[in-house]
Amino acid sequence: MFRHGLPISNRARAESVFYNFALHVHPVKVRKRSIKFTYTFGLGGLSAGLFFILTITGALLMLYYRPSVTEAYGDMKDLQFVVSSGQFLRNMHRWSAHAMVAVVFLHMLRVFYTGSYKPPKEFNWVMGVLLLVLTILLSYTGYLLPWDQLAFWGVSVGTNMARAVPFGLGDKVSYLLLGGNIVGENALVRFYVLHCFILPIVTLGLMGVHFWRVRKDGGV
Ligand code: HEM
Repeated sequence: MFRHGLPISNRARAESVFYNFALHVHPVKVRKRSIKFTYTFGLGGLSAGLFFILTITGALLMLYYRPSVTEAYGDMKDLQFVVSSGQFLRNMHRWSAHAMVAVVFLHMLRVFYTGSYKPPKEFNWVMGVLLLVLTILLSYTGYLLPWDQLAFWGVSVGTNMARAVPFGLGDKVSYLLLGGNIVGENALVRFYVLHCFILPIVTLGLMGVHFWRVRKDGGV
């Protein structure tokens, strides 16, 4: 499991970074300033950590949730009043989602104000922007799943905005999102698949590219 000795020499320290999965996000040699907490505030790592918490709590919530207009609201009420720790699980998921949007945004501000988007990191900045969009879309698609008034009208407003896309594309985008012209059963199933499968997989892939670039661009 461990392919290096205790990190007591420069070589052993280099090997412990090189052979360690978690430390592998950083190159073997990094600038002293970049490991100071006050440089990154650990915001990138925290974003990844929140994504991990959301994946675990999300998988557990899927055990109690059925994406159907007749069952969804009842299942949410069961989570609230019947399933033991159901309300805690749901709140963990909801608050981690809010926190992830905020932390990813703060991470972007950190990167911007430290000028860490400048060459050779401009590609990673673009990957980051895509990750920000995915983080917001993950929150938005999760919004519909409780199937309560807030969810229904939130998605009605959002998909009506999508209808405003010009060149006749608006109706197509809205139809694609809703699986029809109304916020109904098809929309609930589509948002469920987007939220629980498609968007997390794409986000995970982009995070892999993002971490790889952090390493290849010479670390933070
Ligand atoms: C799910 C969202 C994201 C995750 C998990 C993530 C993760 C990370 C991690 C772990 C690092 C290295 C250390 C650190 O700075 O904390 C990093 C660096 C970086 N991130 Fe992100 N990030 C995300 C979103 C973003 C966004 C929204 C942007 C910009 C729009 C961005 C741009 C960058 C850049 C340019 C670097 C290199 C910074 C440097 O070398 O100082 N990332 N990211």
